Amino acid sequence: MGDLEKKISLFEHVARKLEPNEGKRKETQDPIIEYTNEFLNNVNGISVFNGINYEIKNHFPTEFNENSEPIDSIIKHLKEHVHYPGINAASGGHLGYIPGGGIFAASLGDYLADITNDYVGVDFASPGGVALENSLIGWMASIVGYPTTCGGNLASGGSIANLIAVTTARESCEIKTIAIPKTVIYLSKQAHHCIEKAIRIAGLKDCILRYIDLNEKCQMISEELNNQIEKDKAGGLFPFMVVASAGTTDVGAIDPLSEIGNICNKHNLWYHIDAAYGGFFLLTDKGRKKLNGIALSDSIVLDPHKGLFLPYGLGAVLIKNKKKMHEAHYYNAAYLQDFRHSEDVQSPAELSPELSKPFRGLRLWLPLKIHGTAPFKASLEEKLLLTKYFVQEIKKVDRFEIYLEPELSVATYRYVPITGDANSFNEALVKATHEDGRVFISSTSIGGVFVLRLAILSFRTHKETIDLAIQVLKDGVKKVLLANHHLSVDQC
Ligand SMILES: Cc1ncc(COP(=O)(O)O)c(C=O)c1O
Repeated sequence: MGDLEKKISLFEHVARKLEPNEGKRKETQDPIIEYTNEFLNNVNGISVFNGINYEIKNHFPTEFNENSEPIDSIIKHLKEHVHYPGINAASGGHLGYIPGGGIFAASLGDYLADITNDYVGVDFASPGGVALENSLIGWMASIVGYPTTCGGNLASGGSIANLIAVTTARESCEIKTIAIPKTVIYLSKQAHHCIEKAIRIAGLKDCILRYIDLNEKCQMISEELNNQIEKDKAGGLFPFMVVASAGTTDVGAIDPLSEIGNICNKHNLWYHIDAAYGGFFLLTDKGRKKLNGIALSDSIVLDPHKGLFLPYGLGAVLIKNKKKMHEAHYYNAAYLQDFRHSEDVQSPAELSPELSKPFRGLRLWLPLKIHGTAPFKASLEEKLLLTKYFVQEIKKVDRFEIYLEPELSVATYRYVPITGDANSFNEALVKATHEDGRVFISSTSIGGVFVLRLAILSFRTHKETIDLAIQVLKDGVKKVLLANHHLSVDQC
């Protein structure tokens, strides 16, 4: 063997550790499977919030050993320093913000996709993978009421999906740099902050942003929108796009989707709907009624990692006019010249900023195949009813009031103390529930009022979780009252 061959062989010997044989694979697979089983068996038993320790970074040095570490100690490290601290987002007791999911079948989809590593950015590399993803886009289009031939992309989440929609709108309406200062975008203060972020990233931050007034249900007032557009037109401005919400993160408000659609149509504006949270409630009877008019939009975002209970990492954008989406994102390069394209298939890389992308479709397709759609629909119906149940039960607890009647599955409420400032009381109450940790709730501020939220979207949230949440709130009230010296221990 010559020098070169000897060197190659030396490196090959070590490099081949990256390709363990079946026996070696099992040495790491088995403990991980065992740990994930233990995690799932106890997922609702572990406290949902375990506080934040900023020293945790010390357990994650920026250097790695040259040699391997035992899998058991790696798992122990993850358990103690990653999976335990902070919010246990996989628990049904996660009732804060907008909870994600984590259905098991999706993890198998990810596992499969990572093993086979199909390259689904382009049709040429994985015609089946692209067809599979496009079938999901078509399915979502039919749920929304878009033509199944619409454009779409499976992105990493709602923020990127919204960015793709805003970029498409910009290109479609030919917003040139010179026109930006006179171009107007209409939205509301309830829009998720990722919309403004998308506007900025898409180079539209110097557009005029008009925040349309909200009614008492935190919905955009459509007459105000119409009046503002007419005023802007008369003033020589260029109304461009309206962004409506189909379920706001804050309070779950749904803008008047039909009315806004008609206004956009009348004035020829791009109509985008952020349905990242609320969109999949279209699979329920109540949701379909509440979201009437959604199909009038030009683009829409729905998050399967919210409404279809997937683990984080999947947001979908649909654009009614696929050609526009293609024009906004298509690119080519000499090194891609061998790709052959079929006429009627557009690859994800032509409809989004990504070229290489994980095979995200499999984490949704596999669960839909394994379970069918029925349990997804049932779980969404259950969430709507659980929200109703929470409202009914919390109203029975002394001094709690509902802030806004929920549209979907976000309840807003607060405790009204006999004396003292309600805002500081509720702030202390949310802290007390965090210290308790059996469930996790979050809060918001609406017009200076500190409001508690209960967002019910985890597939693991059931009636007993809601009963527990109410108990945690009652216990929290006692704790705050005690701390405020309003009650003696006996009275509690
Ligand atoms: C209504 C709405 N839009 C957009 C987003 C952003 O989505 P993501 O966190 O998946 O980027 C969220 C997240 O909660 C949301 O609730």
